[in-house]
Amino acid sequence: MTDAVLAAGVPVLGSDDAAWWRQAVVYQVYPRSFADSNGDGLGDIRGVTDKADYLAGLGVDAVWLSPFYPSALADGGYDVDDYRNVDPRLGTLDDFDDMVAALHERGIKVIVDIVPNHSSDRHEMFRAALAAGKGSPERDRYIFRDGLGENGELPPADWASIFGGPAWEPVGDGQWYFHHFATEQPDFNWDNPDVHAEFLHTLRFWSDRGVDGFRIDVAHGLSKDLPAVLPSQAELDAMDTTDGRHPLWDRDAVHEIYREWRRVFDEYDPPRIAVAEAWVATPERRAKYATPDGLGQAFNFDLLEADFDAAQFRHIVTDNLAQSAATGSSSTWVLSNHDVVRHATRYGLPPRRGSLAKQGSAWILAGAPADQIDLARGSRQALAASLFLLGLPGSAYLYQGEELGLHEVGDIKAEDRQDPAFFRGADPERDGLGRDGCRVPLPWTGTGSSFGFGAAGAHIPQPDWFAGYAVDVEDADPASSLNTYRRALALRHELQTGESLEWMETGRDDVLRFVRPNGWQVVTNFGAEPFALAEGEAPVLGELVDGAVPAETTVWLRG
Ligand code: GLC
Repeated sequence: MTDAVLAAGVPVLGSDDAAWWRQAVVYQVYPRSFADSNGDGLGDIRGVTDKADYLAGLGVDAVWLSPFYPSALADGGYDVDDYRNVDPRLGTLDDFDDMVAALHERGIKVIVDIVPNHSSDRHEMFRAALAAGKGSPERDRYIFRDGLGENGELPPADWASIFGGPAWEPVGDGQWYFHHFATEQPDFNWDNPDVHAEFLHTLRFWSDRGVDGFRIDVAHGLSKDLPAVLPSQAELDAMDTTDGRHPLWDRDAVHEIYREWRRVFDEYDPPRIAVAEAWVATPERRAKYATPDGLGQAFNFDLLEADFDAAQFRHIVTDNLAQSAATGSSSTWVLSNHDVVRHATRYGLPPRRGSLAKQGSAWILAGAPADQIDLARGSRQALAASLFLLGLPGSAYLYQGEELGLHEVGDIKAEDRQDPAFFRGADPERDGLGRDGCRVPLPWTGTGSSFGFGAAGAHIPQPDWFAGYAVDVEDADPASSLNTYRRALALRHELQTGESLEWMETGRDDVLRFVRPNGWQVVTNFGAEPFALAEGEAPVLGELVDGAVPAETTVWLRG
């Protein structure tokens, strides 16, 4: 690995250019928890429209909306009943069009979430599959198998679902269907041409409505190869996930699907963009999703899974920039999303133990009682990590509320929780408290009904301390996290030139410093001791104390 990471050298392009996504700041909206315009306790599409000025003022280039489609909410909307409509509780297609127009007027692109691995069990294709019975073409669109035992009363295999509990569900006639996630999320059979047609239709439907791109849910799961005799869970667990031949995950064959989709994206001008959610084993495997003839870009969760640690961050950045250069993509960076413990809280957790230190660690809040979480340290490190990330070449994906420095809500009562991962959680060590704690509706005002989220309370209760993180409170404080993010996003337009960086010598293992092609520099002190800058060096972002970068702080220097 060389020190200088020279990516494709692609120039930065304007937001109307086809390559707008390469260095975009994309802000994830979890619609049911963003802003509630009609006072029913659920955030909605008009709520996003109402906040268009807020998003423009923050300086984001695009908004990615988590699913807003009709859904029974068995998995926060990732159980989709109808891919080409808006949940009536969230609005109408007209509301959606208005939202797109409001965002586009402000130069903000719109990305919607496509959930192709599974539908909900209320989708008309799944209802038809149940009604049509065994051996029918309708059943072939999903993954049905005969049960074992005399009358099919035993599951076809002992597989566990991602959310805990069994992955096979009986339908009462001796057959069972497969679901990677909740019982209400039957997996599609991507060997069936009707499934291909359904999603091509959906991609065109939203593209025709002016949507600029797509986030592809569980992109590494669509292709499956299930033999007549199914392996056991233990056998599955022992299989290699890096050779493209695993029966369930990250199969090489999945890329044929995305090549087909790319042809649809390229029917539009500018071409629609896509980003893969692919939790795969290595940066090399991830890069396969990000090729120009495939989805084009893939989430890189390496920083999200790392500790706040200079050596880990440096290695991850170097590795991923090299990978994205090799495929012609641009790298992506993520610290928080709707599936993981917010990074402000994650960095305040006690040091992680054993296997938790890696696998699934980002999901865990259990095992860390509130009095063991160092919130102040978490907040400091989170801002330092975010400003490091925003200075990197490539695109930055932000999660709603992180601009406020918002923490995870740990003490939601069981009866107020919604996440199936909490209720199905077979293994509290692995599953923790689930994902509701990062999905609590945003505080917009320090006082008033549900802190300005809406007139009728919030669908997941907000704690009192949310008041201190409210948008209007932070707005009034020049040193707040919100105002720091705003400054960073505004300056980023000057900083983002070529897609490369070069590491600079700092003489310290716990300080990273890199320079971009236009001379802009980012310095992050991961350590506890101040890091002195040279005489006269004055940051344009972040404060020095006595001429030094304080502990757990990032500063930017203009070139
Ligand atoms: C993705 C989503 C997550 C959802 C799962 C099943 O990982 O990000 O929220 O539960 O897919 O759709």
